[in-house]
Amino acid sequence: MDSTIFLDRSKLSARYIPDELPHREKQVDEICHLFIGPSFPDDYPLTVLQILGSAGIGKTSTVLKCSKILELHFDRNRLQLVTVYVNLKLQGGNKYAIYRYLLEKLAPDIPAQGISAEEMLRYLLRYLRESKKYALIILDEIDYLIKNTKDTGVIYDLTRLNEFEPGTPCNIKMVIFIARGKEFYEKLDPAELSSLGRIPLEFPEYTLRQVGDILNKRCSEAFNPKALGSDIIDEVAKITTSPLFHGDIRFALDLLAYSGNLAESQGTGRITLDQIRQVYSQIHPADTANNLDELPQSQVYTLMAVIRTIRAKRKPYVELKEIRSSASDIAEEFKLKKLEIEDHLDELCSKRIIDIRSLKEIGIVGVSFKDLEPLVMHKIKRYKESKS
Ligand SMILES: Nc1ncnc2c1ncn2[C@@H]1O[C@H](COP(=O)(O)OP(=O)(O)OP(=O)(O)O)[C@@H](O)[C@H]1O
Ligand SMILES: [Mg+2]
Repeated sequence: MDSTIFLDRSKLSARYIPDELPHREKQVDEICHLFIGPSFPDDYPLTVLQILGSAGIGKTSTVLKCSKILELHFDRNRLQLVTVYVNLKLQGGNKYAIYRYLLEKLAPDIPAQGISAEEMLRYLLRYLRESKKYALIILDEIDYLIKNTKDTGVIYDLTRLNEFEPGTPCNIKMVIFIARGKEFYEKLDPAELSSLGRIPLEFPEYTLRQVGDILNKRCSEAFNPKALGSDIIDEVAKITTSPLFHGDIRFALDLLAYSGNLAESQGTGRITLDQIRQVYSQIHPADTANNLDELPQSQVYTLMAVIRTIRAKRKPYVELKEIRSSASDIAEEFKLKKLEIEDHLDELCSKRIIDIRSLKEIGIVGVSFKDLEPLVMHKIKRYKESKS
């Protein structure tokens, strides 16, 4: 059925990677240059790169685009480069599962049954050498894997592939690790950390103007030109660059897609600002104070601890240890059991009421401090009344 709103809804999907990635040209260049060396490719050592940056700012898309460029570059030199992309959140598990996956993708003829993890890598390297193929391995969401496993050796192994068989060339030319932040460093030992090597390439968050450019481009592929005006893109860009979303383009595309659906079902012929706000308040519950009613008491007290700390320190972002000390005062004052604030903070963060940038930077988002404080105090007063 023809839609008055959408040209092609699938172009808003997170799985679709557009040909052009505006405002990531510099990163594409930087990454490709690292891997395209002067004496190419056998004398060129294994190159390891880590990429860091917050959610939805094009890390995965940029690296996948680079892999296409590099494959083409090899092809022009009559060589074959094969990319294996591993999303460790989906395909992870342990070292063994990861290497088996690499083996399946790069050397499907070699059976992975009954051999050790080390042997798998050895076989893989030999297979590539003998079949004159080169490989690029992308390990996405490495922070997720490391946080959820004791088996951190995968970093050590994959960053030292060229030492596996000294004296023979290593046909895995590049390994790229992608993560959101540096917290996973804490779980690595010094040898692993040093093999991760040089400084990471950090992707900056997009600015308001950049988000506007990106959305304009994405919308021109996905929407009927009459279905949305620049006021809509401006509004979505503004919400997206607020401290709550850090320029997360995935969120922006979702907001636009849902609003498009709403415009379609309401038959308005175009997306209105009201529809954007309506969808936003649905996917972003912290905007409506009513949601405080759904919080369990322990989370409300934790929120109170955050508010008191912010008030006492007179700054928008405060440290976990400062909140912890305020929480223990509150527990004493209100005769509560000890507050397990780490868990509650996590919950409040996933409800997008607070923002945890790091353990030293925790703040309120969505609602203004001025609005939130009286609401929380009011709720706590009601708990006290119902107790007595
Ligand atoms: N510069 C850009 N131009 C067009 N689309 C973009 C751009 N940057 C990001 N996107 C789109 O935003 C969405 C999220 O991007 P991507 O998956 O690459 O982010 P990420 O940084 O890997 O996020 P996460 O940390 O959550 O994995 C994708 O749909 C992607 O196509
Ligand atoms: Mg990603």
